Formats: sequence, C-alpha cells, structure tokens
Amino acid sequence: MALAKTEASGGVSLLPEVLAFSSSLWLDKQLLTEDLVGSLAHVTMLARTGVIPAADAKAIRKGLLDIAAQSKAGTLELPDEEDVHMAVETWLSKNIGASSGLLHSARSRNDQVATDLHLHVREHCARALEGIVALLGDLLTRAHQSKEVLIPSYTHRQRAMPVSLAYWWAAWGAALVRDGELFVHALQQADVLPLGVGAIAGTSLGIDRETTRKLLGFSRLTLNGLDTVGDRDFALDYTYAAARLMVHLGRLSTDVIDFTSQEFGFATLGGEVACGSSMMPQKRNPDVFELLRGKSGRAIGNLTGLFATVKGLPGGYNRDLQEDRAALLETGPLLHSSLSICRVGLAHLTFHPEKTRAGVEDGFTQATDVAEALVKKGLAFREAYKKVGALVRRCQEDGLALSKVPLAVAQKVDPAFDEQVLAAAQPAAAVKAKESEGGTGPRSVERQLAWISDKAQALSKTARDVPRLDALLASLEKEQP
Ligand code: ARG
Repeated sequence: MALAKTEASGGVSLLPEVLAFSSSLWLDKQLLTEDLVGSLAHVTMLARTGVIPAADAKAIRKGLLDIAAQSKAGTLELPDEEDVHMAVETWLSKNIGASSGLLHSARSRNDQVATDLHLHVREHCARALEGIVALLGDLLTRAHQSKEVLIPSYTHRQRAMPVSLAYWWAAWGAALVRDGELFVHALQQADVLPLGVGAIAGTSLGIDRETTRKLLGFSRLTLNGLDTVGDRDFALDYTYAAARLMVHLGRLSTDVIDFTSQEFGFATLGGEVACGSSMMPQKRNPDVFELLRGKSGRAIGNLTGLFATVKGLPGGYNRDLQEDRAALLETGPLLHSSLSICRVGLAHLTFHPEKTRAGVEDGFTQATDVAEALVKKGLAFREAYKKVGALVRRCQEDGLALSKVPLAVAQKVDPAFDEQVLAAAQPAAAVKAKESEGGTGPRSVERQLAWISDKAQALSKTARDVPRLDALLASLEKEQP
C-alpha cells in the first residue's frame, strides 16, 4: 500500500515502511461514519462558540457531508494515510482548501478516536439488543407452542427430571435476558462524550463540550482527560457482553447438536439449514450450530486480546491502543450475523414429542417426583429416596417404565407405595407438580414467559432510545453552525 506522509506533523517524513507498519486505515476506515458524525458535531460547536469563523465551519461541514454522500454512493476515494482521521483531514485539505486546517482546533486524535469508538460501541450495543429481542420473541413463540411437550432435562448429560419443552426454551430465554442487560450496561458505559479533552489535558480555547454532547446525543461528559484518552473500559464491557452472549448461543447450539443427533433423536434440522458431507451421502450436519459454538471462541479471543492490549499501559494515550481496533470492529458483525443465523437455524428445528417423551420414560426421570410423593405422605426424604431407588432397580430388572409399574409389584418392593404415590410417576403429572418458583410447573412456566416478555420489551425500548448513526448524520446535516 502506498502511504502519504502525515503532513500535519511537518518535519522529516516517516519512512514508508514505518507508515505501512503503523497505519490502521485498512481497519479503521470502517469507522468513517462515526468519524464524520463526530467531526460534524465538533465543527458545529467550534463555530457556535466562536473558536472558528462560521464561514470556515460551513465549508468544513460541506466537505464532511460530501465525504458521507460519496461514501454512501460508493464513489469515495480516501487518501492513503496513517488512519481514518488523517485520511479525512487530508481529503478536506485537498477538496476545500485552507478552511480544513481549522477543524482540528481543540482536538487531538486521542479524543477523536475515543469518540469514534464510543459512538461505534453505542451503535452496536443497540443493534445487539435488537437482535436479542428478536431472538427472545422467537423463543417465546416456541415456548408457548410447546407447553405440553415433555422432554428430559439433563445434569452431567445424564437424564435428570422431566420438564416441558417450554421450560427448556425459557431457560435459554433467561440467559439471553441477562445478556441483554449486560449490553444495556455496556451501552451506559459508552454513553459518555470524550471529545473536548484534546490530547490529554483539555484546551485553553473557549470550547463548549455540552454543545457537542447534545449534538451527539450522549448522556454525559467524561470526567478527566488523562483518564479519557487511555480508557477502553467501555470497549471491554462491550466485548465481554458479546463473548458471553456468544457463549450462550454456543451452549444452546450444543443442546441442538445433541438433540438432533441419532443418539438423542429428539429433533430434526430442516434440509435448508443442515449441511451435507462431501463424502458421506447420508449426512445432515448441524454446521450452523457448530459454527455458532466455534465463533464463540473468536468472541472470547477478542475480549482477551483487548484485555492484553490495555494491560500494563501507563495513564494517558499510548499507541498500543490502536490494536483495540481489530477486536472491536470484528465484534459487531460477529454478533449480528450470529444472532440472525441462530434465529434461522432454530426456525428449521422440529422437535418430535413422542421421542422426547420416550426419553423421559426410559430414563426413570420421574424417580424424584415419586420420592416427593412419599415425602408428602410423611416420610423423611432420605427414606423415600432409598425406597424409590429400590423401585427403580426393580423396574430395571423387569424392563418396566416407572409410570407402568403395577401397584402389586411396587408394594412388594415397599408397602409405602400406593396408587397416589405411583401417580406421581406419570410424566405429565411429574412436570405439572413442580410449581415452586423457577420450576417446570405450568403456572411457574407461565410466569417465566411473562417475565421474559416484559424484559424483552424493556430491552427493546432501550435500543429504540439510542441515537443511531444514520439519524445523527441526518440531524447534524440540518444544524446551523
Ligand atoms: N490511529 C491512532 C489510534 O487509532 C489515532 C490516535 C493517534 N494518536 C497519536 N498521538 N498518534 O489510536
């Protein structure tokens, strides 16, 4: 790549190989909209405060808007520069002339890049929230359709207790709500304006950060310039939220991968989403879900990479921070594509209720429910546990399901068993009986689904209230300097 020398700094020009090594333009040109929006707000503020003449501000604003329009039309040619900030400045100097030199008054690339990244994180948190809300909507619909479907739950990947399929959907819904709340936290961390602290210590020029803040729709100003230019906490919070969400999608994927295996046989993936094998003609592989699980590793890598970048840095700006870019810029597309493909994959997942019910019966998963029925008759749980253990062993010897054991057989094992106690072994009854908070009983599940739905609405409102880049660009275009 041929790189121009950075004229702004004057002096001896950098060696081309140094420029090539240090340039981040190939990556941070993805931040062009953020950069233009930040500059439009900055130049508008500079004119309003009288730091620069209105006529120059008008020329700069027109230049910035031209760049935005050309970028949208796909005709923009950015000069090869050290980063997107210098590329925009060089473009302006070539296209609008001397006025361009006033744009960087009271600004450094240190607060400029921090502003771009805050805008970026805020935008992508809002988009992630929208994706989470859409996925939650799907999970809720599926849950409402599957309240009567029985399926084993698993601990240690061994059949544990019978639950409704609705309860399984609600479990992943609960995790996604927590992720949504984590993105709300990241959003709040990013919702603060860095611009105006300059390189590190503020400026003696008569700027008004409040004006810039309002123009960019941030809730507050950063407190201290020295902290501001070295701070990437908001980015860590965002990449952590992304990694945790991705890990949840990956774990949900493992359930799907297992459930659709021949060994489980609980569900089938439609041919539209199941990939074939290049050699084995019979294969229908859950690649989409395996990739979701695999990509969660990338998200974790981005988080740990960012942590490694900031670890040990002294206060203030250090060029190391430019290395935050790859992790941050990969995170948004990874999140949005994963959330949307997860919805597509799940839409083609069909459960087989007779198979999931057979899993409940074959696994003696109602054993705890029978023990609790004995407890209701006054037995100590440990006593009941032993008696049901003996009953299960007897059923295994006789090849009987727990729900099919005749009263006479059960009473031979232990006279404490009666009809009422054995009724607890009916899978549907076992699911219905667990009405404790957080349990799989129908009223409990109904409450869980209502809670998830309320939370989804709140997350959706938070996302709607975020000032988005397109809207900011449109509103800044209308501002008078
Ligand atoms: N490209 C740099 C970055 O992304 C911009 C800030 C550079 N600041 C500086 N003083 N060299 O971090």
